[in-house]
Amino acid sequence: MKFFIDSADMKVITTANQRGWVDGVTTNPTLIAKSGRPFFDVIKEICKEVPGPVSAEVISLKADEMVREGLELAKLASNVVVKIPMTEDGLVAVKRLTAEGIKTNVTLVFNPVQALLVAKAGATMVSPFVGRLDDIGQDGMKMVQQIVQIYKNYEFKTEVLVASIRHPVHLLQAAEMGAHIGTLPFKVLQQLCQHPLTDKGIKQFMDDWNKSQAKA
Ligand code: G3P
Repeated sequence: MKFFIDSADMKVITTANQRGWVDGVTTNPTLIAKSGRPFFDVIKEICKEVPGPVSAEVISLKADEMVREGLELAKLASNVVVKIPMTEDGLVAVKRLTAEGIKTNVTLVFNPVQALLVAKAGATMVSPFVGRLDDIGQDGMKMVQQIVQIYKNYEFKTEVLVASIRHPVHLLQAAEMGAHIGTLPFKVLQQLCQHPLTDKGIKQFMDDWNKSQAKA
């Protein structure tokens, strides 16, 4: 399973990358706005830091404009993946960008039939948003399970990129289901490493070691 970091903050991305935690990056307009920096500069910098796929989202809503924007984004670096919203125009844009050899990631997917359309359009990745579905009382992970099963049934090549992950259990369940990628905020990446019994065990080992050294 590949881990992506969901961020446009260079400091955080660099830290996670240097720790060897990430295989790619996802951004969205909210994260770019939060960075307070020009869109293209941020994407170019991320693409230099992380060699894996870097999703950069189009802002347009019409297919022609999405394609034009997607072509511009793809010129920024060879590892750019053009992120397109799940709309009728978005699917048209995915087909056209795919025909040009450009990788795409369809975002804001909230049910398995949307994901089926995404795969049929030939997208490289699909991004089901699990946390936002949970937020409205629906089961985000159930949707992921259905998508993984449907893609298996028809041998689609589109990769399932589980997005809007809020905690380690989302990631654990995604891995059990066989999703290809999870994109995580830095905080959740850190939480994956942590367990209170690990900390307790280290403390005990250190205390015992120090006691034995004091006696020697
Ligand atoms: O980048 C897309 C997605 O991961 C956003 O997550 O927490 O804003 O729902 P969230």
